[in-house]
Amino acid sequence: MEAAVALTGDARGRAASQPGDGGEKTPPERKVYMDYNATTPLEPEVIQVVTEAMREAWGNPSSPYPAGKKAKDIIDTARDNLAKMIGGKPQDIIFTSGGTESNNLVIHSVVRHFQHTRSAEGDGAVPHLVTCTVEHDSIRLPLEHLANEQVAAVTFVPVSKVSGQVEVEDILAAVRPATCLVTVMLANNETGVIMPIAEISQRIKALNRKRAASGLPVILVHTDAAQALGKRRVDVEALGVDFLTIVGHKFYGPRIGALYVRGLGELTPLYPMLFGGGQERNFRPGTENTPMIAGLGKAAELVTKNWEAYEAHMRDVRDYLEERLLAEFDKQRIHLNSCFPGTERLPNTCNFSIRGPQLQGRVLLAQCRTLLASVGAACHSDQVDRPPPVLLSCGIPFDVARNALRLSVGRSTTRADVDLVVQDLKQAVARLEGPPGARGASS
Ligand SMILES: Cc1ncc(COP(=O)(O)O)c(C=O)c1O
Repeated sequence: MEAAVALTGDARGRAASQPGDGGEKTPPERKVYMDYNATTPLEPEVIQVVTEAMREAWGNPSSPYPAGKKAKDIIDTARDNLAKMIGGKPQDIIFTSGGTESNNLVIHSVVRHFQHTRSAEGDGAVPHLVTCTVEHDSIRLPLEHLANEQVAAVTFVPVSKVSGQVEVEDILAAVRPATCLVTVMLANNETGVIMPIAEISQRIKALNRKRAASGLPVILVHTDAAQALGKRRVDVEALGVDFLTIVGHKFYGPRIGALYVRGLGELTPLYPMLFGGGQERNFRPGTENTPMIAGLGKAAELVTKNWEAYEAHMRDVRDYLEERLLAEFDKQRIHLNSCFPGTERLPNTCNFSIRGPQLQGRVLLAQCRTLLASVGAACHSDQVDRPPPVLLSCGIPFDVARNALRLSVGRSTTRADVDLVVQDLKQAVARLEGPPGARGASS
């Protein structure tokens, strides 16, 4: 049964993906967008508040007269809405340009803090950070950079091939005396696997109590919640994290973001990457982007109000998609790459492969006439013949991973869209394989 959610924009996902809507002689081919983990269209209410703010709240939020005051009020309301969405305090939110900046800011800050506090004690150690092997590039690459520069030491903990998750015990086992950060994403962007963040935080807190007695640095916990927000409940108290990354364009908001910092500047230190006009209490200076902040606040308000309905709807459509795939293709040919027994996953993500030597993910997608999707993270879309490293890390065999498609449904995706996509895939497979006699051996 479909959830009773006000899907006013049923055509929105499609409209967003349609080529030009005027002037063509033949109607454009119907497209179905199933790449909502890459990005989402803006909700109409978000567009409305962004537009209003552009028109009416153009004043500098730091100016004391009414135009500035109006902009500042809008920013304060947005901050309140973001805090409500994640169960945190407004004063613990700072606005950033997006997920990449928020993730880099956390990493930069803990390294700076370690250098400030530990080098004063003259112990000569470099900071050590712990993460896992399936993080987004905006975590992996800054960490690799720091390690290459010998500014920090980093442990990339492999995920379990049984659960697709990073195991809590493996994270704990990676901790060293100089560890100052554990950063693990809340939900993986390619498989949708939910990581055990609350358990990691609890164990690290207990460990911190022991470490304090020996004068070792506190280990802070960060989670990149880019993919989880808007798809499941995200609560900083339940998660127990010190930092949490927020990315607007993954939950129908604009392309900016925010960072949650528990007890910002008091309980948890934050060292800015930028220096300038003092905005965001100097933690992230630069004149505030009022219209986009207004839109981010509206998108957060919608999530707080509707997340259960969004989640139920996406789960219904995604489960229907998997059901249809298994029914329409020989069950032996479909491999559901993100189904790990007993592991929770995002309600909207279906990562699967259709086995066959001619059916590499990119080749199959290029044959599709209706489906708009991806083979993995959008930022890897230039890496042509390599199977997604995240799937290989999760233990998916090479030949299966090479054929992977990541379909991610959204608030406006319908069961009828799923029917179209499954038909499209069947036809694409038939075109690639030719008549049954022409098929190669199945891989
Ligand atoms: C898990 C995850 N973290 C971070 C990001 C980066 O966010 P942004 O595009 O706002 O820099 C993304 C976006 O693809 C993501 O999926």
